[in-house]
Amino acid sequence: MKTTIYYFTGTGNSLAAARKIAAALKDCRLVPIASLAQTPGRIVTDADRVGIMCPVYDAGLPVIVREFAERLDIGAVPYSFGIVTMGGMGVSALHQLNGIFLQGCRKKLDAAFAVRMPGNFPPLAVPPSGDKKDEILRKADADLAAIAVAIQKGQTVPPGFAPFSSLMRLIVYPPFAKNVHGLGASFSVENTCTGCGTCAKVCPVANIVMENDRPVWLQKCELCCSCLHFCPVEAIQLNMMQGTKGRGRYRHPDLTVEDMEAQRGEKTDSPVS
Ligand SMILES: Cc1cc2nc3c(=O)[nH]c(=O)nc-3n(C[C@H](O)[C@H](O)[C@H](O)COP(=O)(O)O)c2cc1C
Repeated sequence: MKTTIYYFTGTGNSLAAARKIAAALKDCRLVPIASLAQTPGRIVTDADRVGIMCPVYDAGLPVIVREFAERLDIGAVPYSFGIVTMGGMGVSALHQLNGIFLQGCRKKLDAAFAVRMPGNFPPLAVPPSGDKKDEILRKADADLAAIAVAIQKGQTVPPGFAPFSSLMRLIVYPPFAKNVHGLGASFSVENTCTGCGTCAKVCPVANIVMENDRPVWLQKCELCCSCLHFCPVEAIQLNMMQGTKGRGRYRHPDLTVEDMEAQRGEKTDSPVS
């Protein structure tokens, strides 16, 4: 049975989760959503199973994922699933995904899951580290193993009842989605910047260019925060809420710069498990 998983990630949680699911399902292709962002028109697949895997942003979907889902035709796909990774609260993103498919394809996802993984938004909460982080990742692995079994069995799993996160989505998501592309302007860079260009390399949407050995953010930011978390000298700060100075950094232990470059589809083929 052929499976295609479309994924987006900023700090590697959703990619690591997608790789776990792909390894369990076998014959599974991982396709970066960012690599398809510039292709026009509907996206049709001949896979028997289709999944979307991504983080939760502001109780909803990353805008790039929302726009992708609006173009993805799951009408003729025998089994579809969505898995969101989140720091704490985000089942509402699965309801959003269902709403998109109901409108575009007159069907909902067959199965929808939310997996708690380390949070990666330091302006709001310091990311977990040490034993706490390891424990969250261990628990996520166990959850993902159970999810893979449910998918293999073709189970129907609706997203849970989530009144609080749905209310949050109603309040915080619309302004987030409206403004996110310009939020690169909220990043700043300190004089400790070495001009290494890692931030530009890892940006999944190529929103950073280097000018005079300093990053400049353009107008298509997704606020994934990969630039913030990958900077080897923590010279990048995000100036919103409580800020990010001294508030920790996070990325999934398996995530590499090459994984992030591959999302843009420029360097390597999308990984196939
Ligand atoms: C801009 C932004 C908004 C976020 N909003 C939420 C949220 O509403 N609820 C939540 O549980 N986690 C939220 N998070 C945390 C991420 O969803 C979580 O850490 C996710 O696993 C990151 O996945 P990734 O490593 O694949 O990028 C947010 C993160 C970012 C960067």
